[in-house]
Amino acid sequence: MSAQKVVVTDTAVGDDSLERELAEREGAEYHHWDGSSDLADLLDGADVVLTNFVPLGPDELSRLPKDAVLIRYGIGVDNIDLAAAADAGLRVCNVPDYGANVVADHATMLTLMLVRRVVAFDSAMHRGETPKAAGIGTIDSLESRVVGLVGAGRIAQLTASRLQALGCTVLAFDPYADADALREKDIELVTWDRLLAESHVVSLHLPLTESTYHLIDDDALAAMREGAYLVNTARGGLVDHEAVERALGSGHLGGAALDVTEPEPLPADHPLRSRADVILTPHTAFYSTESMARLQSLAVDEGRRALRGEDLRAPVPLPDRGTTR
Ligand SMILES: NC(=O)c1ccc[n+]([C@@H]2O[C@H](COP(=O)([O-])OP(=O)(O)OC[C@H]3O[C@@H](n4cnc5c(N)ncnc54)[C@H](O)[C@@H]3O)[C@@H](O)[C@H]2O)c1
Repeated sequence: MSAQKVVVTDTAVGDDSLERELAEREGAEYHHWDGSSDLADLLDGADVVLTNFVPLGPDELSRLPKDAVLIRYGIGVDNIDLAAAADAGLRVCNVPDYGANVVADHATMLTLMLVRRVVAFDSAMHRGETPKAAGIGTIDSLESRVVGLVGAGRIAQLTASRLQALGCTVLAFDPYADADALREKDIELVTWDRLLAESHVVSLHLPLTESTYHLIDDDALAAMREGAYLVNTARGGLVDHEAVERALGSGHLGGAALDVTEPEPLPADHPLRSRADVILTPHTAFYSTESMARLQSLAVDEGRRALRGEDLRAPVPLPDRGTTR
């Protein structure tokens, strides 16, 4: 029997020693894509693929054998064409629990920075100015703010508990959530219209899918309160960035804090980069020493189960495509 094959397409962890050791221990071939060769060729016949941000579509996925396992370093699986994976009879896993707390920290920090207008003060101080607090615009207390979470899963709930500790009232919109379970956490599940109309800050915590693409568009922004803020630590494709520019330009949107954008990276001359009312971080919400260590070890553990034919810990449901090969 020929050796199994493990391929790492890319990893934000930086060091692939655990993946290499796994392959060696299990007697599998090991390859780490260097970005220059043809990825589809490298993936040909791979049994286990660990992947982070590289887009994987039909060209790449059709080269994998039926039942091959794709493991996403992270939570969102939107870099993998799930329909193509289903067509090819593949299995897809993610690592749902490696660092939800740091993403919640990041979303909370961005909310605080917007509401407390940290960037305006900081920029002025760095320019040698000492602005008066009253001269910078409206600054409200966190205890009077309503934050609307779109998506009420793991990260949203951790964000809610942080914001509640600061005094915020938390609403959520999530068509699949359990209202009673959320009520026990003092999170009120509301309609989409109510969330937009009542929230001073709208924070996104849902997956990017065909149906959630550009969920935040001109209409959604117009339905938000005058001067409200938008925070996105989920996925860039959830937001129509041109609509955000229009809403900021008219003053209807008070500011935006975006960890994720469309595209990534945002081009150097993108208009959002030069706006003082936009806070940008380069998709780093997930990153901490601890979360990266957990991400790598949980992904490698899943890889070991895949190579040994054991049950997978975190399989992602794939679209039903009728027949699979
Ligand atoms: N910026 C980063 O570094 C980073 C890191 C990790 C995760 N993420 C993103 O954060 C998102 C949330 O992660 P999570 O761990 O909380 O996931 P989760 O699966 O625990 O929660 C997602 C929630 O979104 C809800 N949802 C699905 N469709 C919806 C819709 N149309 N409208 C409203 N809600 C909807 C689901 O019911 C679920 O409760 C992920 O999808 C991922 O894209 C970003």
